[in-house]
Amino acid sequence: MNTFDEAYFDAGINRIGTNCAKWDEMRRETGDPDMIPMWVADMDFPSPPAVQQALAGAAAQGTWGYTHPCDEDFEALCGYWARRHQTVFDPEDALLSPCVVTSLRISVRALTAEGDGLLINPPIYGPFFASIKESGRRVVESPLVQDEDGRWNLNFAEMEEKLASGEAKAVLFCSPHNPCGRVWTKEELSALAALCSKYHAPLICDEIHADFVYAPAVHHSILTVPGADSAVMLCAASKTFNIAGLQQSAVVCRDAEVRGKIGKEMIACGAVSGNIFALAATRAAYRDCDAWLDGLLTYLRGNRETAAEHAAQRWPKVRVTPLDATYLMWLDCRALGLGQEELMNRILQAHVKVNDGLFFGERGRGFIRLNIGCPRAQLREALKRLDAVLG
Ligand SMILES: Cc1ncc(COP(=O)(O)O)c(C=O)c1O
Repeated sequence: MNTFDEAYFDAGINRIGTNCAKWDEMRRETGDPDMIPMWVADMDFPSPPAVQQALAGAAAQGTWGYTHPCDEDFEALCGYWARRHQTVFDPEDALLSPCVVTSLRISVRALTAEGDGLLINPPIYGPFFASIKESGRRVVESPLVQDEDGRWNLNFAEMEEKLASGEAKAVLFCSPHNPCGRVWTKEELSALAALCSKYHAPLICDEIHADFVYAPAVHHSILTVPGADSAVMLCAASKTFNIAGLQQSAVVCRDAEVRGKIGKEMIACGAVSGNIFALAATRAAYRDCDAWLDGLLTYLRGNRETAAEHAAQRWPKVRVTPLDATYLMWLDCRALGLGQEELMNRILQAHVKVNDGLFFGERGRGFIRLNIGCPRAQLREALKRLDAVLG
């Protein structure tokens, strides 16, 4: 029996007073001690015991001088991806960096030139836009298109047009997709890789949400796709094990030339990783926390059903995107007929904080993102409060 059962996750963890963004920053900003945070993408669960022990061990050292990643860090990363995602790569293929957003920015700078266009598929995680614009590159959009079942799909014809014309010189891809909760099939990824290869466009693939995929869906890393030999995969233990505050991620690329360019840019930016606590926690997370993660996925699946049922029964005008992956629900509220500001204000007045759809670009207008990574009692209370606005 898995000790990480429903009761374990129901208990959650009190994060108030830890200076965390989700609770404390929100309370400082809103001045509302009754607000329930269902926004920024981390979870209200304790990190796995093995991670806590690793951190306690690092804290007990009593001195914390310069420390560099060692073989064991890379072996833990490789072992995890081989075991959990059937994705095999060599320790030499990986570079460590402070966080995934840093890796996005570094990859953009390393693999494209100023003024180049980078293709993205909005609505998409806000820093995708910022990583491009703030690096002096251009955002080229090929929006996802929703089908009758509410699932979001790529528009391959449009993507090809933008690559063929030279308007886009590289692709920044999100797999699984945040906020659309979409898991890409092997066929879709192969088609994407083929396009990138045909037009010699670097492919940078953010796979930070890879661990949150609900069966029968399966995560296929871009590294397992034939023809994606020079693709760059970005990953981290941060979301999965609730250690985002420690800041560590990995960049994996089998192509030595491409990897070399990224490594050089990392050094140029001073984005070198070697935080003792992050290294210790990540090593433990990758090695010793499978049972915790399996328990978490079962629990999140329950939250997904709870939220979807509630929405189906109480929110007739809200369209819920089917969630194949992530603990982030993307809700289409356009039929409520409220402006975005009005929608967000009313939700705040109901004492719930969610993410504004506009954080994901103009295509997110009329949408909100609801974080369901919390104990079920908290989720139920937030859903009940949202009835006043969405019902
Ligand atoms: C797609 C995606 N990439 C990156 C991040 C952030 O990663 P990091 O904290 O390692 O920068 C997030 C966080 O929500 C995300 O959703």
